[in-house]
Amino acid sequence: MVCKITCIPGDGIGPEIVTQAKKVLDRVASVYGHEMNYTDILMGGASIDVHGVPLTQEAIDTAKAADAVLMGAIGGNTSTSPWYKLPPEKRPEAGLLKIRKELNLFANLRPALLYPELAGACPLKEEISAKGFDMLIMRELTGGLYFGERKTITENGKKKAIDTLTYSEDEIRRIAIKGFDIARKRRKKVTSVDKANVLDSSRLWRSVVEEVAKDYPDVTLEHMLVDNCAMQLVRDPSQFDVILTENMFGDILSDEASMVTGSIGMLSSASLNDTKFGLYEPSHGSAPDIAGQDIANPIATVLSAAMMLRFTFDLDREADAIEQAVKEVLRAGYRTGDIWSEGTEKVGCTRMGDLICEAIK
Ligand code: IPM
Ligand code: MG
Repeated sequence: MVCKITCIPGDGIGPEIVTQAKKVLDRVASVYGHEMNYTDILMGGASIDVHGVPLTQEAIDTAKAADAVLMGAIGGNTSTSPWYKLPPEKRPEAGLLKIRKELNLFANLRPALLYPELAGACPLKEEISAKGFDMLIMRELTGGLYFGERKTITENGKKKAIDTLTYSEDEIRRIAIKGFDIARKRRKKVTSVDKANVLDSSRLWRSVVEEVAKDYPDVTLEHMLVDNCAMQLVRDPSQFDVILTENMFGDILSDEASMVTGSIGMLSSASLNDTKFGLYEPSHGSAPDIAGQDIANPIATVLSAAMMLRFTFDLDREADAIEQAVKEVLRAGYRTGDIWSEGTEKVGCTRMGDLICEAIK
């Protein structure tokens, strides 16, 4: 199979981790007889520096022409980088929001699981982490507060800012269907998270999710208020399988869930539309403080590449091979600095990539 992939190295550690992920993909391709065909585009700060905007139309067109997009990370240090003196629509993050909207990537999947080898890094009490956990946050990505009308006006000489939270029933239905479909392939439980005790958009969310649930009698549905969910994530994360939620709640809860694993450098993500197309990226950010030192953890990006093989290209065997290789390298005791602990061997970004390649046979 020929896989046509657009890469967004991005900013900070982005380029180094994408290099490792490409190396691993090339290794899988040579073992299983595929061809990886990459085209790089600029996005975020890297694009601002060259084009003055975080994402050009040409870059969007290149992404659209591919089967999938593999991304590193974008953005810089928000207090020191000159990118953050620009107006909001010209900053690095605006490029990310634009590509999500342009490619209609409404379903964002963020797995958060405890790797047994890294259980020591989990910040929760051992009696809680001992149960283990493996959840998937299904976040709506192209609606809600992020894309509603926003403005700042002046009223009676005082400034007033307005953001709008809008959801249509169609937007809710399509993400709910994705959530239930994926729950069916997992432990068959959906926790739909909303703020239905206050917000109209949440009340609509709840009723549409209930309608969709009727088509999935084999999947258990529960509703949870977002503030309670934030609490439950640290009280007992093992109760969750699929967490289905709107854009802003998903942004916040997915950061919390990844922190609870203690190993954010391991967590991948996928943003999908209604076709097989997807954008795959690590759940972590661009870590500008450690960029260019060859110490970043490339595993989240490598695992995002595995998700790409699975979801976009239906190459399950190849995706399994990458995931197995990562586990093997961890079992053999190799760690990047972020997940290192006494008694394990610290390796850099490139070496970690090489070790994963060697473990793919
Ligand atoms: C994320 C990020 C983005 C978001 C930012 C960079 C715009 O936090 O992907 O979670 O809020 O969606
Ligand atoms: Mg976020």
